[in-house]
Amino acid sequence: MKTHTDSLSPRSIVQELDKFVIGQNNAKKSVAIALRNRWRRRLVEGAMRDEIIPNNIVMIGPTGVGKTEIARRLAKLSGAPFIKVEATKFTEVGYVGRDVESMIRDLTDLAVNSVKAEQTASVREAASHAAEERILDVLIPPVNKSGIGYKDEAPEENHATRQMFREQLRNGELDEKTIEMDLAVPQGNGVNVFGPVGLEEMGINIQDMFGNMMPKKNKKRKVKIAEARVLLEQEEAEKLVDMDAVLKDAVERVETMGIVFIDEIDKVAGNQGKSGPDVSRQGVQRDLLPIVEGSSVSTKHGVVKTDHILFIASGAFHVSKPSDLIPELQGRFPIRVELDSLTEEDFIKILTQPENALIKQYVAMLKTEGVHLTFEEDAVSEIAAIAAKVNEEVVNIGARRLHTILSTLLEDILFDTPDAIEEKNITITKELVSDRLRDIAGDQDMSKFIL
Ligand SMILES: Nc1ncnc2c1ncn2[C@@H]1O[C@H](COP(=O)(O)OP(=O)(O)OP(=O)(O)O)[C@@H](O)[C@H]1O
Ligand SMILES: [Mg+2]
Repeated sequence: MKTHTDSLSPRSIVQELDKFVIGQNNAKKSVAIALRNRWRRRLVEGAMRDEIIPNNIVMIGPTGVGKTEIARRLAKLSGAPFIKVEATKFTEVGYVGRDVESMIRDLTDLAVNSVKAEQTASVREAASHAAEERILDVLIPPVNKSGIGYKDEAPEENHATRQMFREQLRNGELDEKTIEMDLAVPQGNGVNVFGPVGLEEMGINIQDMFGNMMPKKNKKRKVKIAEARVLLEQEEAEKLVDMDAVLKDAVERVETMGIVFIDEIDKVAGNQGKSGPDVSRQGVQRDLLPIVEGSSVSTKHGVVKTDHILFIASGAFHVSKPSDLIPELQGRFPIRVELDSLTEEDFIKILTQPENALIKQYVAMLKTEGVHLTFEEDAVSEIAAIAAKVNEEVVNIGARRLHTILSTLLEDILFDTPDAIEEKNITITKELVSDRLRDIAGDQDMSKFIL
């Protein structure tokens, strides 16, 4: 199976990441190499291929500097199944925690959905054609000279009528007309089948098991043609998509390309205590170990081998250190990268450069209402300066600070838009930023609450 990163060198992966994440070059480089290595592995022949294990990565850095963002963009870029989990979720299984294998099941579910969506998209045309034919069959029941028959044998006039209706149908002229037709009843509707406790945790869903065994039921229903078309397209698409192939492909993608991002790994580090919270933290690490080392997890879509899944762990490691992780786990995360705290200059770039930059987002949102928002250059610098100041004086939350600052800054503008669309230009100047924010930023108590 091909993905577009098949042709991307580590250098171009970094370039792609640069479009969204400012700075953090070491981290970008490491993930780019890890991604490329998996592709290299797939090209290696013979037994060696199974020997090569992924270079799992620990990203170390304060909050809000782009750790999650890098991993998320990487996954998107490579089309790889991606899931983000918090390590702390797995403490105390049975009380509040989830079992660790659930991350692999969730990842597989995601992969199945996305492969299915791809397949569905690829049969869309055929499905919509089939749906159209079924509606036409209801509108003009196929007849031939003897009264009943098949549309293939239908006389010329029938073909002509059918063609006429088909055109009306395509133009949407018949959308409001109501027809009565056989439609598949959504399965399991209204009936909940509960399995024995525990099955759910194993990822086995009784409903799915029986749902597929029971024959599909059809029911005559009266619906508008527009609605019928949507329902029938789904029905036909489902018939055309080969679910076995979807599952096989999805499991393969998870096994060879999957990326699991384990956040807050530092919160489960700490091996001092022989009792208390450290025990359960170590427990999480021990639970993680087999999955990271490579094991087989049974999911409702089949058994998934985790040997070549790429794990990226991340944490601030303010209190604990990577060396506080249990040794086996440290060995499984051979690559360590540190991310830098963000500076005022970084903030300026983050506000303006990425394709999804915050300022671009607000400009795009307001444009829908005819408001043309522009930021003067020194206004942006001022915002960045205030963000850096508040981060330093209150608490450093990295680039997330920009969200709170911008929403405070733009609150009035966002609130004041009139009920009717009205074209206008608004320019954000340095003075405006200062007026609106300097007082709040200057007062530590106020900025604790507002910014
Ligand atoms: N270097 C950066 N370039 C561009 N945007 C960034 C950068 N760092 C953070 N951001 C933005 O800040 C927000 C938070 O970043 P992210 O989720 O990556 O933080 P994090 O490092 O994972 O923090 P945490 O340790 O709290 O999970 C995101 O919306 C992201 O777009
Ligand atoms: Mg994060």
